[in-house]
Amino acid sequence: METVEITDLDHQGRGIGRIQNKIVFIPNTIPGEIVNIHITQEKKNYLVGRVDQFVKKSPSRQEFLCPYYPLCGGCQILHLPYAEQLIYKENKVHNIFKRYHVEVPIKPIIGSPKPFGYRNKVTFQNENGKLGFYEEETHRFIEIKNCLLLDSKINENIIHLPKHSGKVVVRSNQQDITFDHQKKVMHNIVDFQFMVSLDSFFQINDAVTELLYQKVKEYLQAQKTDTVLDLYCGIGTIGIFVSRDCKKVIGIEISKEAIENAKENAKLNHIPNITFICGDAGKESKKLKEDITSIIIDPPRSGLNQETLETILTIHPKKIVYVSCDPMTLVRDVNLLKEYYHPVEVTPFDMFPNTYHVENVCLLMQKSDTKSCKIDELPVK
Ligand SMILES: C[S@@+](CC[C@H](N)C(=O)[O-])C[C@H]1O[C@@H](n2cnc3c(N)ncnc32)[C@H](O)[C@@H]1O
Repeated sequence: METVEITDLDHQGRGIGRIQNKIVFIPNTIPGEIVNIHITQEKKNYLVGRVDQFVKKSPSRQEFLCPYYPLCGGCQILHLPYAEQLIYKENKVHNIFKRYHVEVPIKPIIGSPKPFGYRNKVTFQNENGKLGFYEEETHRFIEIKNCLLLDSKINENIIHLPKHSGKVVVRSNQQDITFDHQKKVMHNIVDFQFMVSLDSFFQINDAVTELLYQKVKEYLQAQKTDTVLDLYCGIGTIGIFVSRDCKKVIGIEISKEAIENAKENAKLNHIPNITFICGDAGKESKKLKEDITSIIIDPPRSGLNQETLETILTIHPKKIVYVSCDPMTLVRDVNLLKEYYHPVEVTPFDMFPNTYHVENVCLLMQKSDTKSCKIDELPVK
């Protein structure tokens, strides 16, 4: 057993301490706390520990009535009061940009109107007729009867969900739920309606999605003469949301099912000036003949690959609005674009309360002295 004082939090929400000059990461701890721990992982440069006993607890620690926390691994910072979670996430974004030497104004984080009951989708594991999640480190199955993050409609229906085999994916819109792969759920965002299939991507926190899309629209400042490219467009949400401001929107997305949803959503919302292409973002945008004014990018956590970065630099739009669910890949990509694009502002959003995740929207403007580049002149390798 070791006694450790926690001095900081890492990017995964774990407390940081030291044992004889070696760094140790300890989940479910807060700076200022002193804990007795045992080591669960021993690596060359660091250790990971688990708390056996709190010697000194932080006065701000929030004790929670979640019987699965922290074992289930779905939440990492549930023990922090919500206001402190927001400070933690805002500092994390500042630290990541600072570490990569990217200077950009970072606006105060926009919190979630609902810190609990916000998740509109979940994937349950199914074991022996019970639904639950796998414990993060051990992968031991934990039966879940109620999850604080889930929309109440999903929690109320856990007992009615099928429990025969495999995973169960559930989507909800507060009125309806579905676990049927043939059915869709309708989400209302401002005055738009979006139909989404069970397996297509849709942001998991409706209230924050609305705020995030408004920020994208504000950063984009589209004009009636603009042609906007919506890369990684999912079910067409962002493109449809900004379509009334511009001449034309082109959405590109790899999932066939999402593209079908997107076409249906354009009709549902009476949007005549949007078209969708199913395929890889980098490959398909390379083939476009249109004169693109701005690009919205909302990639998966891995960020942009080289081909997509190259295509963006070849298209060379005036403006890029980058929506990112991982600040590490966002800062990496902003750095790769830096010879041609100037980061103007970043706004963080708390899409995922009680977890360490933070969503960001970043506005980038073309540097006035740069021209569209040829592939062999690109700064990216
Ligand atoms: C973070 S989601 C964004 C969706 C959408 N913009 C929204 O707000 O709902 C990322 C999307 O990228 C799609 N995707 C993943 N890899 C892709 C690729 N190589 N080319 C195009 N789309 C891709 C996924 O299917 C997913 O729909």
